[in-house]
Amino acid sequence: MAVSIQAVRGMNDLLPSDTACWQQAEQVLRETVASFGYSEVRMPLLEKTNLFSRAIGEVTDVVEKEMYTFEDRSGESLSLRPEGTAGCVRACLEHNLIYNQEQRLWYMGPMFRHERPQKGRYRQFHQLGVEVFGLNGPDIDAEIILLSKTLWDKFGISDNLKLQLNTLGSSEERMAYRQKLVEYLEAHFADLDEDSKRRTHTNPLRVLDSKDPKTGEILLNAPKLADCLGAESRAHFDKLRDILESCGVNYELNSRLVRGLDYYNLTVFEWVTDALGAQGTVCGGGRYDGLVAELGGTPTPAVGFGLGMERLILLLTTLDKLKERNAVDIYVVGACADAQKEQAKLSLRLRSDLPHARIMNHCGGGSFKKQFRRADKLQAKAAVILGESELKDGTLTVKDLRAGDSGAQQTLPYAEAVALLQRLLAA
Ligand code: HAM
Repeated sequence: MAVSIQAVRGMNDLLPSDTACWQQAEQVLRETVASFGYSEVRMPLLEKTNLFSRAIGEVTDVVEKEMYTFEDRSGESLSLRPEGTAGCVRACLEHNLIYNQEQRLWYMGPMFRHERPQKGRYRQFHQLGVEVFGLNGPDIDAEIILLSKTLWDKFGISDNLKLQLNTLGSSEERMAYRQKLVEYLEAHFADLDEDSKRRTHTNPLRVLDSKDPKTGEILLNAPKLADCLGAESRAHFDKLRDILESCGVNYELNSRLVRGLDYYNLTVFEWVTDALGAQGTVCGGGRYDGLVAELGGTPTPAVGFGLGMERLILLLTTLDKLKERNAVDIYVVGACADAQKEQAKLSLRLRSDLPHARIMNHCGGGSFKKQFRRADKLQAKAAVILGESELKDGTLTVKDLRAGDSGAQQTLPYAEAVALLQRLLAA
């Protein structure tokens, strides 16, 4: 017997019941980014591997152990994108979008990371990404945070998400801090967890992110990055906080928030929820002023975020915030053998006269009862019946399916039937 083939672990099919939710969420995301004046970019899913190792950092988890990397048929090392920022910067440089000009961009699509799958963590997942180039002030940092907050407001989930905020300072300030932190970690080396020991000399700031309780205790007395900040970094952060406060955005300062990718400086933030268990970060981002130059461009300030769409949709379904939506409004039913040809024609005519309605023509014959059962299963709002007398008189019978068995049924000339359908769909 042939062995059935299953999907790759951590890569999910989205079935019709899922896509209905996704489409609702995507529509809100698209409308919101457009309402802030952002434009869409679409990048390839595959990029040259060194783009990611340069942008994200050689000693990050993503590059060290999570990328899907392979040699293509010409021997070139390619990787499925683990995130969108690197590709977005590459595309902007390649097409000269950010030289001496501002850009406010967004993208939506799949990303790939070979992580251990669990609820809210997958190997293929989707992000909405927002990236802004050419603006260096705290006002634009505030804008993208406000954009994300607008999303939560529109979805009605603001009460379930907390904003965590931190500043990583400039790269010079971070270097100075790094040295102090390494000295401190070395003094407590024996008591650190294994990951943190390894990171002490490769990526010490990531130790701050450790979930190990003992390391957590040690970190309570670790030097603080905030104490290494110069006046300019401090002013940037204060101004950002000022704008957020004046817009009524609550936040928590989290000095241990460093993010998992190396390109950040100054502002970093995450929106977290406790409604999803361990994978509670729904959205994260920050400023990355060094990346454009790192990838060969003229130094250009940049800031952005990535929103995990699976986590957003899990949260929306957990909190019951998505409306159930049927796929069909009008079901066209044939009540006699001659109706088939006319049904197809009638359905086309109805679709052109009711362009916003979703109209399904019954195919496959069967009893009247069977056809109505199908219409009910699809939760159609109305049925249009084409029988012998309708064919003869050029009329249509319209039945309001939401009125139950007692629902009135009316036989009308075509134009009046269309007007009635319009009223039924609007109700
Ligand atoms: P990130 O924090 O790696 O940032 O990912 C952003 C979001 O993607 C996370 O907060 C999470 O919601 C979602 N996510 C990440 N990994 C997974 C996974 N394995 N399964 C499900 N969801 C996941 C970035 O990717 C940056 N490019 C964000 C950014 C844009 N920073 C500046 N601009």
